[in-house]
Amino acid sequence: MKNLLELNAWQSLNEHFFNIKHLKMKDMFQYDEKRAEKYTYELNNIYFDLSKNRINFDTISYFVDLTKSLKFHNRIAELFDGDKVNNTEDRAALHTALRAFDEIKFEKIAQERTMFLEKAENIIADNGIDHIVQLGIGGSYIGPKMVNEALSSYSNGRFTIDYIANTDTTDFDKVFSKINIEKTLFIVASKSLNTSETQYNLNKVISKLGLSAPNEKFYCLTANREKAIQLGFNPDNILTFCNSIGGRYSLWSSIGFTIVLNIGRKNFEELLKGAEIADTHFAETDDYFHNIPFLLAYINIWHRNFFDLRAKANIPYSDALKYLPEYMQQLEMESLGKLIDKQGNKVKYATGGTIFGNIGTNSQHSFFQMLHQGVDIIPVEFIAIANSDSKLIANCFAQSRALMLGQELSDLNSNNDNHRFFPGNIPSNTILFDKLTPSTLGSFLAIQEHKVFVQSVIWNINPFDQFGVELGKTIAREIESNYETQDHSFDSSTNNLLKRINN
Ligand code: F6P
Repeated sequence: MKNLLELNAWQSLNEHFFNIKHLKMKDMFQYDEKRAEKYTYELNNIYFDLSKNRINFDTISYFVDLTKSLKFHNRIAELFDGDKVNNTEDRAALHTALRAFDEIKFEKIAQERTMFLEKAENIIADNGIDHIVQLGIGGSYIGPKMVNEALSSYSNGRFTIDYIANTDTTDFDKVFSKINIEKTLFIVASKSLNTSETQYNLNKVISKLGLSAPNEKFYCLTANREKAIQLGFNPDNILTFCNSIGGRYSLWSSIGFTIVLNIGRKNFEELLKGAEIADTHFAETDDYFHNIPFLLAYINIWHRNFFDLRAKANIPYSDALKYLPEYMQQLEMESLGKLIDKQGNKVKYATGGTIFGNIGTNSQHSFFQMLHQGVDIIPVEFIAIANSDSKLIANCFAQSRALMLGQELSDLNSNNDNHRFFPGNIPSNTILFDKLTPSTLGSFLAIQEHKVFVQSVIWNINPFDQFGVELGKTIAREIESNYETQDHSFDSSTNNLLKRINN
């Protein structure tokens, strides 16, 4: 396989970059009255305005050439057909099958879906339960938590839902201080059932309840049924999903059980169907000039590899989307933070990137200073909901405009105060939902997943493994097992830190 840097389309992009890098976006808008329409796209009542980026028709054309030279049509077919796209773990990545209603290729996945949906309906109908405590971490935590918050206006109000992810006792104690155990269901969400934090919290809950194993009030959402049985879960309370679903792609599976409990089966199905709309758009829009996940990926690669921008901000102007930045962090950084390519060689170009964020307008009163006047250019993804408070929307639109325009000293009437200089020309995407519904949220999240997939194929890395988290886990086990010993054989910094704890 030819190295990315040697591909003709990549070289064309390089040449094109030198022609475009000095352009000012505000001039691009002035010269082309139709710029906004040209670079705005729509799917399922979500509007994607990508016009405030330093791109033009040629930029997208060269990326489309690149896409075609990588035979992307086949890559997408492999993903949807269940080929082993996760080559390092020798398995498929079947998250799209979880939301397939129109064309069911994987019968077992559809059966598992029916099973957890029916189970959730029974629990909703059971008045004996009014509190849910979910134990789980990573994708087995942040996806359901983010969606439940985003769709809180769709909640059936049946349950208070709490999450225990970390092993810090603060969350644990807080949750236990308020539950009526008789009326509480404990849900253990763990694909592997080998995650130390989740095992630890499960054991802690079991002993807190004075049990020796999970009783009928415990459910288990997992791909490891055998281990769940070994741990003593009632087989009827084990809701499985297939091993070919990655943690950060799993909210559509039984891992989304608390979402079904919270918003009901119909709304959860709407969420899946919204994702299916995005899947179909991604797989069937052969005209890549209008394929939204491709366009978003092109912009990310344009920023990362050509402008050498290493960080970007994710800013939802909506309290309902307050956990989105954390979710996007796992999706992008765990999928794309890779320096080894699919063949096991070190990549010769940048991949991944830092993603951070918080809700607007709160973040305007903190890190936005650096976005406007810092030395690094940090692109922003603004997310807003059209039927929000006008003050919120005005602030969102003002920020993307201010970042683009900047402020020259000559624009100021009064004294030429250098401190009031804003360089401007800072890129942003604005994603505007007409309304935040299960369907639109589903489409949006699936688009983000596919965007990550496109970037991974262009960068020739596997977005579905996460070996980078393993080394820390191994060392944590070593440290934990030597915790109280006096003489440690780690490095002197670690040794001293441990001594300090033990003194
Ligand atoms: O440590 C990383 C990770 O494997 C994530 O990818 C995953 O979402 C999380 O841990 C939790 O894993 P599990 O669902 O197997 O407990």
